[in-house]
Amino acid sequence: MNDRPVIAVLVSGSGSNLQAIIDASERGEIPGRVGLVLSNKADAFGLERARKHGIPTAVVDHKMFAGREAFDAKLVEVIRASGAVLVCLAGFMRVVTPVFLRAFPHRILNIHPALLPSFPGTHGPAQALRYGVRFSGCTVHFLDEGVDTGPVIAQAIVPVHEDDTEESLAARILTEEHRIYPMAIRLFLEGRLTIEGRKVTTKGAEKIPDFSRRNPDA
Ligand code: GRF
Repeated sequence: MNDRPVIAVLVSGSGSNLQAIIDASERGEIPGRVGLVLSNKADAFGLERARKHGIPTAVVDHKMFAGREAFDAKLVEVIRASGAVLVCLAGFMRVVTPVFLRAFPHRILNIHPALLPSFPGTHGPAQALRYGVRFSGCTVHFLDEGVDTGPVIAQAIVPVHEDDTEESLAARILTEEHRIYPMAIRLFLEGRLTIEGRKVTTKGAEKIPDFSRRNPDA
């Protein structure tokens, strides 16, 4: 099992996506293993989750560095030492610089709690509620130099209910995040993703049947 390709997961908080990735890997649904969990916060619960599974952890506190580039250079050093072939941001609350991006070209994934390009940045579910959209969802994308702008790998949609709070919508979205992030990682590690410009194609993917839903359904 230990000769499987190494995934590094970067977290700043709860790490429920990290947990979904670890669980999928342990069930053999991802042809890779989480070999490093790195956080910029020593008290991130994601680190606790990693320890429970015997996964090496590292803390690189951004406040200890003079600037973003120096912080990113340290991240690169720690991730390289883990031998990771794929870097997954999972609730990692730092904007990275080209120092980080260029170290792992087309090898960094991120998950965002909205249907990009709508509602990038922080508080995706709250932004969706404020705007009044009837559907929202989540997006897994390759990281590029913008904030939540990279090529889209996978998306899932959820309805927005009229009595939703930020918490209830975020929870509905999170359930889908836990499904599509492991899937996107699997597709990456199976070598099935091709990027051309900002378009990602997936080798051997089933075409989903046409569907349409309306909300409200009155
Ligand atoms: C998720 O909603 C993710 O989309 C966003 O940050 C949140 C992280 O949640 N980038 P968790 O730490 O994985 O529970």
